[in-house]
Amino acid sequence: MNKQEIILQLEQYVRNLHQGDSSGHDWYHIDRVRNLAVHIAEKENANVFIVECAALVHDVIDDKLHDDLASQKIQLENILKELLNNSEEVNEVLYIIENISYKGGNGVIPTSLEGKIVQDADRLDAIGAIGVARTFAYGGKKNRSMYNPDFKIRENMTIEEYRSDQSSSLHHFYEKILKLKDLMNTKVAYEIANERHQFVENFIDQFMKEWNFKI
Ligand code: NI
Repeated sequence: MNKQEIILQLEQYVRNLHQGDSSGHDWYHIDRVRNLAVHIAEKENANVFIVECAALVHDVIDDKLHDDLASQKIQLENILKELLNNSEEVNEVLYIIENISYKGGNGVIPTSLEGKIVQDADRLDAIGAIGVARTFAYGGKKNRSMYNPDFKIRENMTIEEYRSDQSSSLHHFYEKILKLKDLMNTKVAYEIANERHQFVENFIDQFMKEWNFKI
C-alpha cells in the first residue's frame, strides 16, 4: 500500500469513528487539524507522512470522546500495524497522540518535532472563530452555561477540576483558550495563533459589552 492509500484508509476509519459528534470533535475538526499540521510540517521540514497520520488519529483515544479507552487503543494499534507495516512508524504515531493533550494545562510537550507540530495544529483549531464556536459547542454538550458571573476563574487546575462542571464556556476562554498562543511549539503556528488569539479577545470584549448593557 502506498502512502496515499494509507492516508485514505485512515481517513475512512476516522470519519466513521467521529460521525455524529456534536462536541466540536467531529470529522471536520480532524480534517482542519490535518490540514494545519501538514502546512506546518512542510514549513518545518518535518516528516509530513507521520504528521498527517498522527493528526488524523489524534482524537481516537481521547477520554473526552470515548468511555472505553483501552479497547479503543487496541483497535487503533491493530489498524496502524496493518496499514503502516512498520513498527517504528506505528510507535511514533502512538507516541504523538498520547502526548499532545492539554489536560488542564498540565499536559506534556512531545519530544519529536512531528509531535510538537500535531500539538500546535490541534491547539490552533481551538483558537479563532472556529475556537469560539467549538468552545460553546463543547460547553453545551457538557451542560455548561454560556457564561456564569458567579463562577471564579480557576488557575492551576487538576485534571479532575478541569473536566468538572464549575465553569462556563466564557470561563473556558480564560482557563484554556487564551493560554494556547504562548504554548505554541513552532514559529509558523505561533504566527497563525497570534491572529486567532486577537479575534478571541475581541469576541470576549464584545460579549461582555453586550452582557453588561444598561440603558
Ligand atoms: Ni483534537
